[in-house]
Amino acid sequence: MTDTQKSATLTLDGESYELPIFSPTAGPDVVDIRKLYAQAGVFTYDPGFTSTASCDSTITYIDGDKGELLHRGYPIDQLAGKSHYLEVCYLLLYGELPTAAQLEDFEVRVTRHTMVHEQMHNFFRGFRRDAHPMATLVGVVGAMSAFYHDSLDVTDPWQREVAAVRLIAKLPTIAAMAYKYSIGQPFVYPRNDLDYAANFLHMCFSVPAEEYHVNPILSRAMDRILTLHADHEQNASTSTVRLASSSGANPFACIAAGIACLWGPAHGGANQACLEMLKEIGTVDRIPEYIERAKDKNDPFRLMGFGHRVYKNTDPRAKVLKQSADEVLELLGVENNPLLQVAKELEQTALNDPYFIEKKLFPNVDFYSGIILEAMGFPTSMFTPIFALSRTVGWISQWKEMIADPQNKIGRPRQLYLGETMRDYTDIEQR
Ligand code: CMC
Repeated sequence: MTDTQKSATLTLDGESYELPIFSPTAGPDVVDIRKLYAQAGVFTYDPGFTSTASCDSTITYIDGDKGELLHRGYPIDQLAGKSHYLEVCYLLLYGELPTAAQLEDFEVRVTRHTMVHEQMHNFFRGFRRDAHPMATLVGVVGAMSAFYHDSLDVTDPWQREVAAVRLIAKLPTIAAMAYKYSIGQPFVYPRNDLDYAANFLHMCFSVPAEEYHVNPILSRAMDRILTLHADHEQNASTSTVRLASSSGANPFACIAAGIACLWGPAHGGANQACLEMLKEIGTVDRIPEYIERAKDKNDPFRLMGFGHRVYKNTDPRAKVLKQSADEVLELLGVENNPLLQVAKELEQTALNDPYFIEKKLFPNVDFYSGIILEAMGFPTSMFTPIFALSRTVGWISQWKEMIADPQNKIGRPRQLYLGETMRDYTDIEQR
């Protein structure tokens, strides 16, 4: 953050207040209002944080108008095309691409932590079989703080490191266990000879009764889904993790808070909601009806998988995933899948519709990830848990950055109070 020597002047009741302006390395300047209340006695009002930078960060940069997403400066399409998930995890966590030796060391550290405490198996059995895997995930990740006491002290950098590696390593195992539990199959232990994505597919789809070979095209597509969801700067769940951890809460509790936030259909839940919407539409001839509903202000229906708070041109993640979706569908021979036909037709209709053009509503990453995961054989209820396991590294990187920042203080937004002013209590007989 550079002091630009520029400032903004706020005039209020005849008094002027100089507000410093900072320049980021990329993106718009920010007006520093930290002293505004102390000096002028007013708050700013910005529900939904549409114009407010809640922190400074060096991890991820998004230019929504250009459709650009950079992790530590590297464009997401280059990372998705040339790198792989664990290398991107390293980049997000430590700031630079690893050397071969650093990557090997990191992979060993992660794979050493892939198993969960055996007693956790009993914990799973407390859930109903029909529990949504996200419900299980929130509970079990939160419960990690009851199992891993040696990585709870957030003031100790070594413990923070161990917690980070544990979460990255165990989330696939926990997500796969939530899935296996929901379908009544035995838990499958991780295999450290497989890469991160292949191991996850193995834990989800293998059974003790027969050999399971992970198809490299599918594990590559899974790796891409993970890579493309790894971080997305200060979105709702990441901000939730930051806010939760600003109080000094332990990392497992904070990540559980992030998972809870991600679950909502306006955020990570959109991939499930998108697939359910495609199924509800069912056939291509019903698309116009749903497009009209999406445009109707009196109808709460929205086209799931379309639109984004930040991307107002194109979602660069969606571009990469569209290609993966084509590869996976070709491999699995489901080009004639009616769901996909609806998806393709819907995409074209919306892209050419004046309402969607004018409001800059494009297919987002969830539109294509849902299609790929469906083709791989995942039930829709597993879509958001997969998003959660990939985003865990982003949450942890942002959490680590925040804890190490000497300026870190508890998050405490203000409000515009519109309720009653002080009034006297009325006894119940007089109400
Ligand atoms: N279908 C129809 N109309 C829409 C849609 C949509 N999917 N998205 C936005 N609009 C309209 C909205 O009604 C509003 O119209 P008006 O200006 O007439 O009031 C205008 O576009 C702007 O929308 P907004 O709600 O003010 O925009 P936002 O930035 O607050 O919302 C969003 C962003 C992603 C929540 C929203 O586009 C949406 O609900 N999309 C569907 C859910 C979805 O796919 N979410 C996944 C986001 S990507 C994954 C992730 O990062 O979690």
